[in-house]
Amino acid sequence: MTAAGAGGRRFCVAPMLDCTDRHFRYFARRLSRHAWLYTEMVPAQGLLRADPRRWLAHDPDEHPVALQLGGSDPDALAEAAALGEAAGFAEINLNVGCPSDRVQAGRFGACLMAEPERVAECVAAMTARVRVPVTVKCRIGIDRRDRYEDLLRFVRTVADGGCRTFIVHARKAWLQGLSPKQNRTLPPLRHARVARLKRELPRLEIILNGGLRDLQAARAWLDRVDGVMLGRAVAEAPWLLARVDPLFHGRPAPVASRHEALAAYLPYAQAQVAAGVPPRRVLRPLIGLFQGLPGARAWRGWITRAPDLDRLLDRAPPEEAAAGGCKRLAQGRN
Ligand SMILES: Cc1cc2nc3c(=O)[nH]c(=O)nc-3n(C[C@H](O)[C@H](O)[C@H](O)COP(=O)(O)O)c2cc1C
Repeated sequence: MTAAGAGGRRFCVAPMLDCTDRHFRYFARRLSRHAWLYTEMVPAQGLLRADPRRWLAHDPDEHPVALQLGGSDPDALAEAAALGEAAGFAEINLNVGCPSDRVQAGRFGACLMAEPERVAECVAAMTARVRVPVTVKCRIGIDRRDRYEDLLRFVRTVADGGCRTFIVHARKAWLQGLSPKQNRTLPPLRHARVARLKRELPRLEIILNGGLRDLQAARAWLDRVDGVMLGRAVAEAPWLLARVDPLFHGRPAPVASRHEALAAYLPYAQAQVAAGVPPRRVLRPLIGLFQGLPGARAWRGWITRAPDLDRLLDRAPPEEAAAGGCKRLAQGRN
């Protein structure tokens, strides 16, 4: 595999609880045909305990989508992975990066970085059950186990279990004393460590995550890693996804303006609301759509407080200033 990436995961949208739900993913897909999307983390035990169809529900038009699982029991993870594959997910990803107390109490997430052999066992059990790739999302370290050599040993051990793709959040996590939010901002970013991992383990696919906000700068990393994953930048301003297909895949953007994206989303939103989903829920992915343009704040307020689908297109702020840029994007020149 080349450092420029074999393709699918050149640009990924990070799994984010309370954000990358099915509605967000459906909207994201209106903006980019090729971005690789992830679900929110689904605990394997929860999935197996109660109504898997509800946990796994999504629209075929969201694809390609990876299902992210949380867990540390190889049998449960294998069972959950099989359900995910049967539901149509293109990849099963194991969360080894979340430091929340709740996740630690279940003995999964970032604390598993201290147990590479167990992670390898989980990966081996999952790969034995599914044909889609099983991947791991991890940190560069936890607590005092934060030397590059610790990361290398973790990745080598898990690769022996059958994992070829690692998404690495380039920050360590402190398991005690920091909230998950602080663990996404306070530990320093060490992107170069992730690039070194790729250099030293060139046969693995290595995806860089953490603190990437600018698409051009993220694209430049493809000289040194196989792909990049962006989380908050996309959640806060999803319109940046409209530049992904031209910039990362050499393909035209699927829509030329935010208004076109809204029009493309509207029939889906109407169908979801008719099926009983609250409008606020369906429209949540649109909150940051006009970020940076005049009228963005009023739009955010309207969506958050009392959105009305029938007025969606009328309430959208004008975007003349962006139109020239959008045309350029649609032609793949940006
Ligand atoms: C609101 C929110 C929820 C998150 N939920 C998850 C999750 O379910 N699974 C996971 O692996 N990471 C989760 N993360 C971490 C992101 O996937 C990502 O690793 C992190 O935000 C760093 O990337 P960024 O700087 O591009 O946002 C979450 C992050 C945020 C902001």
